[in-house]
Amino acid sequence: MIPPRSGWRHVGEPKAPVGLRHWIVTGGLGFIGSAFVRNVLRDRLDVRITVLDAMTYAANPENVREVSGDSRYRFVRGDICDAAAVREAIDGGASAIVNFAAETHVDRSILAPEQFLKTDILGTHVLLEAVREQAIERFVQVSTDEVYGDVEHGSSAEDHPLRPRSPYAASKAGGDLQVLAYRTTFGTPVLITRGSNTYGPYQYPEKLIPLFVTNLIDDTQVPVYGDGRQVRDWLHVDDHARGILHVLENGELGEVYNIGGGNSRENLEITKELLTATGRTWETHVRHVTDRPGHDRRYSLDASKAARLGWHPTVEFERGLRETVEWYQSHEAWWRPIKSGEFREYYKTQYASR
Ligand code: DAU
Repeated sequence: MIPPRSGWRHVGEPKAPVGLRHWIVTGGLGFIGSAFVRNVLRDRLDVRITVLDAMTYAANPENVREVSGDSRYRFVRGDICDAAAVREAIDGGASAIVNFAAETHVDRSILAPEQFLKTDILGTHVLLEAVREQAIERFVQVSTDEVYGDVEHGSSAEDHPLRPRSPYAASKAGGDLQVLAYRTTFGTPVLITRGSNTYGPYQYPEKLIPLFVTNLIDDTQVPVYGDGRQVRDWLHVDDHARGILHVLENGELGEVYNIGGGNSRENLEITKELLTATGRTWETHVRHVTDRPGHDRRYSLDASKAARLGWHPTVEFERGLRETVEWYQSHEAWWRPIKSGEFREYYKTQYASR
């Protein structure tokens, strides 16, 4: 095992970090990445962050507006597939890279898979090379429970076989396997987190919860795929960000940690809660549409390893969901421009003939 470098706390070793540490956060203008940036700049005063973000459709500078004036925040526009951009972000030295940059939407991966392979596999490889070249002390790959595939019974632990079933999930699994192979071959200081379905403020409105909430606010119907009995395990974005931070600071190199919310719900239950929260009814506002091809029926994460490391989710689901609805109700200026832009074309392609 590679000995820990200075500046990192390890389990049972309380040690205050010295000096300002430099962390690279790729995809820091996206949903989970920006929550991580906001949390770290608030809670770790000895850390400065460089966000490297390609500013693809789901990125939004508004997501980090509250911290972008902080002298510990720096932004570089660039793609993780571009080694020169990665070098520019590292700027001579960094102690950690946390990789949030990814194509993440399953439905888009069914329409156009290629970009998923580029960003999620090749981009991860470019970052791993940078970690080797520049002696970065820790690399955290932010991954997903989708790599385990459909879970009929029980929950997936970290050593469960990877059985990805969508182009998105297969791309993320490809990235994860690169990360683990670099550990084995080169001793690269890596960690992987696999998160469950994440919800909260600033989520691009293509995913179930923000799509349904904004449609309902707009008095538009919501498209439930198939029978709506699919099960997801919901995790608040701040809990997810704190989980990744906890693994970065305390995790054992070479290990994978599941970050699950422990809130398993059928899509029908989520839909009902959102209808109630927005004062709409099932009869007027729900439309069952053709199912997603290869739709995974159920995900369920065993997050006991992260719990043993000292991380626990804290946001109670019903409260988190209610507050998320209220956030979208009070932040129309954030999501209306999104829904009137490229999103319209996407929505037509995805839903018009279902
Ligand atoms: O499990 C973690 C993963 O969760 C992340 O890695 C992915 O980036 C994230 O997109 C999410 O994947 P899902 O496919 O589970 O999320 P999505 O919000 O697209 O869908 C959640 C469930 O809701 C799924 O069963 C499909 C269903 N759904 C989704 C949409 C967008 C609908 O019934 N109607 C819809 O319009």
